Amino acid sequence: MSAANSWNPELYEARHSFVWQLGEGAIDLLDPKRGEKILDLGCGPGQLTQKIAERGADVTGLDASPEMIGQARQNYPKLRFVLEDAARMQFDGEFDAVFSNAALHWMLDALAVARAVARALRHNGRLVAELGGRGNIAQIEHAIATVAARYHGVAAPKNRTFYPSVGEYASLLESCGLEVRMAQLFDRPTLLQGSEGMKNWIRQFKWYYYDSLAGERADEALRETVDLLRPSLFRDGEWYADYRRLRIVAVKV
Ligand code: BEZ
Repeated sequence: MSAANSWNPELYEARHSFVWQLGEGAIDLLDPKRGEKILDLGCGPGQLTQKIAERGADVTGLDASPEMIGQARQNYPKLRFVLEDAARMQFDGEFDAVFSNAALHWMLDALAVARAVARALRHNGRLVAELGGRGNIAQIEHAIATVAARYHGVAAPKNRTFYPSVGEYASLLESCGLEVRMAQLFDRPTLLQGSEGMKNWIRQFKWYYYDSLAGERADEALRETVDLLRPSLFRDGEWYADYRRLRIVAVKV
């Protein structure tokens, strides 16, 4: 999660539990072992940090959002959570693994983050990560940009996410001394709960495109965005987000 975003943990936990439910596959890929020291990068409210702990690892959750870290500490008081920007963390060789689910795409200084991850890992330690990959939410972004251009003119706020291709991210990790052992880019259309699913998703994650508009105009712009998306992302009475995932495993050599 990024310090640049203001998070609403209640809405996030109530409506977007799929983030950590779908992230459990990435934990299987991590395959945490009893006693391993693991850093959960961008841990959010801590659900996956807890899953890693349940497998016997000694896990630390880290997030740049005070709201998320506050929620994580409340949810799992026995676990260790650190409020820190991943690009600035100073861990040095102490982790067997760094894990990250649905968080690295918020961290725009990807090179600084990769360097910090490489430094945090011991020799032969592994990074196991899942993030939005190239083409992630392309249809949603296009609809938002179309409506934002209409409402804001040319000065629509900038995109605040990073969705790399396999080649781009693998090269970046390699430049930091991480050897890429597995990389996979795949579509994961993701069910959004309820008839207001797309509206709620945009309110949670993309509201910065709308919040400088006066109240009624923001609601109108949101409605127009949802209407633009209906033909492609509303199917059989359900909303889907056009997620694409990049899964990557890399080892510090
Ligand atoms: C994602 O997990 O891909 C994502 C979540 C929220 C906003 C944008 C992307």
